[in-house]
Amino acid sequence: MTEPTRIALITGASRGLGLVIARVLGKRGYSLVVNGRDPEALAAAEAELSQEAPAVVPVAGDITDAQVRLNLIDAARGLGGLDVLVNNASELGTIGPLLAFDVPRMGRLFPVNVGAPTVLMQLAAPLLAERRGLIVNITSDAATAAYPGWGPYGATKAALELVTRTLVAELRGQGVSAILVDPGDIRTRMHQQAFPGEDISDRPLPEVTVPFWNWLFDQDPENIRGQRFAAQQEDARWLQQA
Ligand SMILES: NC(=O)c1ccc[n+]([C@@H]2O[C@H](COP(=O)([O-])OP(=O)(O)OC[C@H]3O[C@@H](n4cnc5c(N)ncnc54)[C@H](OP(=O)(O)O)[C@@H]3O)[C@@H](O)[C@H]2O)c1
Repeated sequence: MTEPTRIALITGASRGLGLVIARVLGKRGYSLVVNGRDPEALAAAEAELSQEAPAVVPVAGDITDAQVRLNLIDAARGLGGLDVLVNNASELGTIGPLLAFDVPRMGRLFPVNVGAPTVLMQLAAPLLAERRGLIVNITSDAATAAYPGWGPYGATKAALELVTRTLVAELRGQGVSAILVDPGDIRTRMHQQAFPGEDISDRPLPEVTVPFWNWLFDQDPENIRGQRFAAQQEDARWLQQA
């Protein structure tokens, strides 16, 4: 009997880390559902990813839009189901001291960085359960370290970590695993926003995480459930395979 094609949904896959993860999964034979707000950037990613992945379905739009989330899940269902959900899309918000922070702007950060990933997990769980699937939530060291100026962003990532760990406890024995991945500093548009006007050319490109992703997608999701990984950590488990 031939194995069914595996399917992955990656939010924020039009550039940066999300595109790198989508490339790894496409090369490994996954069909992909990819997302980002800018339709042109997403179409460019789709064209590139289609060279290797068996199928690529782009769903352009903001993950805070309920219809976009439904369309993402429908696209995965249309491909046959879901093995991997990667909640990668996220926003940094305004950088600056908390005492001067425009608190109403928090109203945008939590829906993007916590609310949308949580709803996607809710919608995806039944599909993932059919295939012993894996949820990968992208976090940051800002979730645990108190970096001056990044408080609101860090608060959203800390919340995402707690939501993820809670879900892992609640889904025990139900065929859905979830993990957290901190990619470490990587040279992307978001990183440049975090260091406005600074030269960030010494930071590695997001491709530095490729050995980790290849190792990760070789694992049985059940064996890694609930773990938090630092993708750039010098860990023999994934560097041996590089
Ligand atoms: N860069 C770092 O050093 C670093 C460190 C730790 C953690 N991270 C985490 O790594 C992940 C990826 O970040 P990155 O550095 O690769 O960022 P990036 O280069 O800015 O890419 C973000 C991606 O998400 C999409 N996106 C952003 N907001 C969205 C929304 N509301 N709805 C749908 N798509 C949205 C973007 O496309 P559009 O703009 O077209 O929507 C883009 O495809 C994030 O979760 C980030 O918090 C990054």
